[in-house]
Amino acid sequence: MPGSSQPLLTAITHRWESGLAERLGRSDVVHVVHRCADLAELLGTVEAGLGRVVVVSSDLRGLDRAVVSDLGGHGLQVLGVHPPDDEDGARALRRWGVTEVLPADADLATLETALERLLGERAGPASDWDRAVEDELEQEPAADPGEARAAGAEDADGAPAAGDVAADRDGPGAQEPREPHEPEDGVPGRGRVVVVWGPAGSPGRTTVAVNLAAEIASPVCGVLLIDADTYAASVAQVLSVLDEAPGVAAAARAADQGTLDREALAALAPEVLPGLRVLTGLPRADRWPELREHAFADILEISRQLADWVVVDVGFGLEQDEELSFDTRALRRNGPTLAALEVADQVVVAGAGDPVGLQRLVRGLDALDEVNRAPRTVVVTRVRASAVGSDPHRRVRDALARFAGLRDVHLVPDDRAALDGALLAGRVLREHAPRSLARQALRDLAERLTGGAGAAVPAGRQPRRWRLRSSG
Ligand SMILES: Nc1ncnc2c1ncn2[C@@H]1O[C@H](COP(=O)(O)OP(=O)(O)OP(=O)(O)O)[C@@H](O)[C@H]1O
Ligand SMILES: [Mg+2]
Repeated sequence: MPGSSQPLLTAITHRWESGLAERLGRSDVVHVVHRCADLAELLGTVEAGLGRVVVVSSDLRGLDRAVVSDLGGHGLQVLGVHPPDDEDGARALRRWGVTEVLPADADLATLETALERLLGERAGPASDWDRAVEDELEQEPAADPGEARAAGAEDADGAPAAGDVAADRDGPGAQEPREPHEPEDGVPGRGRVVVVWGPAGSPGRTTVAVNLAAEIASPVCGVLLIDADTYAASVAQVLSVLDEAPGVAAAARAADQGTLDREALAALAPEVLPGLRVLTGLPRADRWPELREHAFADILEISRQLADWVVVDVGFGLEQDEELSFDTRALRRNGPTLAALEVADQVVVAGAGDPVGLQRLVRGLDALDEVNRAPRTVVVTRVRASAVGSDPHRRVRDALARFAGLRDVHLVPDDRAALDGALLAGRVLREHAPRSLARQALRDLAERLTGGAGAAVPAGRQPRRWRLRSSG
C-alpha cells in the first residue's frame, strides 16, 4: 500500500502477544489500533469497522475457517502467525485460507514484507481455497506442469497437486465467480464428485445415491458415500450403520479445526462393503447448523483424495438465502447442498414417477440451472402404471420431453418388494435383491455414469459384506 500507514488489529495468544505488538509498533507499514484479547473482542472490533489488516495466531481459541472467511468478508486482510516450529498450526492457518503465514517470532522486516504483500492485494473475500493454492504455488515455483504436480502433491497416493487445482482458476479472478467445475479426466487420485439431488417430496435421492455408490464400489474402485442432507438424513439407517457413527458432523468439526486430512476422514467413514465407505449424516435434523458450507467444501476436497468416486446425497433446498449471504457468519441450511453442487463433476437429478413428482422435477431442473451447470443425468424413480397410466415408461419420457425438453431420461421401475426388503435388511439392492428390476436399472445408471469403471458385479453374485455394526 503506497504511502500511508494502515490500521492494524491483533488477536494473538498471550505468549507471543507483547513481543509482536512491540515489533509491529515500530512499523511504518501499519499502526496498531487495537490489541484484542480474544476472538470475541476481535469480532466486535471488526464489526465496529476498525482495522484494515489483522494479525491472528493459530492457537487463538475459536479461530477457524469460518472466522477467517468472515474477516475477509469484512474487507480485512489476515496475517497468520504460529508458534515457531508448530507446522500443524501453520498448516491449519493455510487450510483456513490465510495466505500470509509466519512464525510468531518473525522479525519486523519479515512481518512488514508480508503485510505489504497483503495490503497490495485487493480487499474482499477471495475464495479461501484459491488463496491457499496460490500461496502454495508461490512457495514452490515449478519449471513445468509435471514438476508442479510433484511439488504440490500431498502424498504418494496421488492427492491433487496444487497445479491441478489451480489449473481452472487461472487469471486475475480470485474474486470472480468461479467457472463451473471442469471435470479433470486423467488426473490420478482425484476422485470425482457425483451429487444426487432432487426436489422436495422424497423422490428417491437416498435410494439412488446409496445404490449408485454400491454399484460403483469394488475392491479396486473406492467410493465414499456422504449423507449431506440437512433436512432428512437417512443413509445410516438405510445401510444399518448405527447412528453412533460420528459421520459428517465430526468431519465438519475437524475441518473447522484444520485437522481433517485423508486419514482423519477415513477414520470417520467406515467401510460397509468392499470399496464402499460411508460418511453418515446428521443424526437429528435440528443439528443442521453443525454442517457449515465452508467445512463441507473442505470435506469434499479431502474426499477426492480418499476415494475414486464421491457420491453425495443432498437435501432438496436450493434457495441461496440472498439476504443471509451478505453476512458470511450466517448459517445457511442449504449451504452444504450448494457447496456440493458448486464442485460437482456430475449431478444426478432424481424425480418421482407420478404427476406431482414429475411436475416438481420439471420446476426443479429450472432451479438447478441457476446454481449448477455440471453434466447431469435425470433419473425418474418408482415408474408405475398405477400413477401415470399404461405404458408408464413411454408416458414419463413423453412428459419430460414435452415439458422439460429432455430427450434422455433414466427410468427406475417401481419395485416396492425389492426396496422394502432391502430397507428392512439394511442392505443395498446389489446384496439383497440383485436380480430385481430396480437394481438392474440402478446398475445401468452406475455404468452409464462411470463408463463401466465401477464394480459391475453381475446380478446374482453377492459381495461379502463388511459391517462395522448392525442394528438389525
Ligand atoms: N424404484 C423404487 N421402487 C419402489 N420404491 C422406491 C423406489 N425408489 C425409492 N423408493 C422408496 O421411496 C421412498 C423414498 O425414497 P428415498 O428415501 O430414497 O427418497 P429421498 O428423496 O431420499 O427422500 P427424503 O426426502 O427422505 O430424503 C423409500 O421408501 C424408498 O424405499
Ligand atoms: Mg433422502
